[in-house]
Amino acid sequence: MVSRPRGPLRADVVVVGGGLTGTATALLLAEGGAEVAVLDARPASATTTARSTGKLTVMQGTRLARVARHGDEVLAAYVAAGLAGLGWLRRELRDLGVTVEDRDDLTVAGAPDQVESVDAVLEACARVRLAAEWQDDPPLPTPTHGAVRLPGQAQVDPSAALWALRRLLRERGVPVHDGVRVRQVRRIGSGVALRTSRGAVRAGHVVLATGVPPGRYGGLILRLEAQRSYLTSWELAPGSSLPDGFGETMSITAGEPVRSLRTWGDLLVVGGEGHVVGREPDPRARVAALDRWTRRHFPVTARRRVSAAQDYVTDTDLPFVGPAVPGDDRVLVATGYAKWGLVHAAAAGITLSGRLLGEPVDWEPVLEPWARPPQARASSARTLGRQVAGWAQATSRPTGTAPVESGTPVSRVCPHFGGVVRWNELEQSWDCPVHGSRFGPDGALLEGPATSDLRPC
Ligand SMILES: Cc1cc2nc3c(=O)[nH]c(=O)nc-3n(C[C@H](O)[C@H](O)[C@H](O)COP(=O)(O)OP(=O)(O)OC[C@H]3O[C@@H](n4cnc5c(N)ncnc54)[C@H](O)[C@@H]3O)c2cc1C
Ligand code: FES
Repeated sequence: MVSRPRGPLRADVVVVGGGLTGTATALLLAEGGAEVAVLDARPASATTTARSTGKLTVMQGTRLARVARHGDEVLAAYVAAGLAGLGWLRRELRDLGVTVEDRDDLTVAGAPDQVESVDAVLEACARVRLAAEWQDDPPLPTPTHGAVRLPGQAQVDPSAALWALRRLLRERGVPVHDGVRVRQVRRIGSGVALRTSRGAVRAGHVVLATGVPPGRYGGLILRLEAQRSYLTSWELAPGSSLPDGFGETMSITAGEPVRSLRTWGDLLVVGGEGHVVGREPDPRARVAALDRWTRRHFPVTARRRVSAAQDYVTDTDLPFVGPAVPGDDRVLVATGYAKWGLVHAAAAGITLSGRLLGEPVDWEPVLEPWARPPQARASSARTLGRQVAGWAQATSRPTGTAPVESGTPVSRVCPHFGGVVRWNELEQSWDCPVHGSRFGPDGALLEGPATSDLRPC
């Protein structure tokens, strides 16, 4: 944390979270003349942004078809936001010298029962005049049953993009305080008080660009599900070839098993095997499934890297961008991108900065978290079930010691809402199956809505 005068840190707007959402919001606010500060609990390398696949697309797998269920107006607003986000990213990254590679985006029917979903994506694209086309024979070495192809999308190195944007933030004089975790958000008087791991903070407005709001703020936690998934990158065998045109595309299947593909320089990136955080008994089996699939279909040699990250899915299939509590602009949130938050994180920045600077964008009302009532979904019932099961189990005060050198005995009761955490051997972490908080082998909080560590015992 940079040195600062004694007493609480103050700013017109405090942005919590320095991933793409927070960074874009802070940049645009600073550009509009607001006094902004950014707080982040962890380094940029730990963000979901930096660990994403780096696809910049407005089509987003089958997401448009799901959004289309809300009607034409909502679909048009969602796509308008995405196009604005994509345009902003292209301009900023070009000016910063970050490579943005043009790609056609494919949503692929990997099995006959996925054709209907792909058709629905094509129809959704047509409804908003996106120039998508059906392709019978997409350039992939895997079995396919057709695909929808949207030209004019792009891919980036998401970590390089985030670093460059964060550097720009500092150049514009916006203080970025890393290593500061927000533990409590309270509306007071005409502003907001934050309790953080480094002391008190006061602001006129706070933007929670934290993936999931900390603690229980605003009650949105009950409408979000934490989804983790995996990325692997591979060397291709010398002299091997992929179908003509493969390198001009990036793709994802329209159903299970979800497989997301892109090239990364000379490497092939394969992602997928998503699951609710903390509910997978053996995440190593997920990575093994990705490995088997990749070796079966691609001429790969060594696997270079495996990583995992999580993102949040809402009960409406739309992101939540706007006031955490209806009608009160003191605390704004942006979350629920369902693993498609790069262009929509930038769009959230445009939306929230416009709102605070008095220049609202047209699509703003559509993305507000409380614009539609909470939806009863099977996933919400399952989360509630996990919570209740956790409480029942928690009465026996379960404890555990991570089976690694740095493991210390900890209470397995999650400090957020009393779920019981499970050991994740792949990532060497304690993961909560209720709302997705994760903790290190010593119980130290890594990510998620919890605001404190697992209790030592
Ligand atoms: C495996 C995977 C691949 C993906 N690939 C793509 C893709 O190709 N294209 C695409 O569009 N989307 C993709 N996504 C989704 C996309 O990465 C996310 O939607 C997007 O990065 C979210 O950005 P964010 O800034 O909101 O969150 P993050 O990047 O996670 O940033 C949130 C920040 O908030 C900080 N924070 C959290 N809590 C606190 C607290 N209490 N106090 C202080 N700081 C806090 C965190 O430390 C973090 O730095 C992918 C997601 C996953 C999981
Ligand atoms: S993250 Fe909510 S109970 Fe653990």
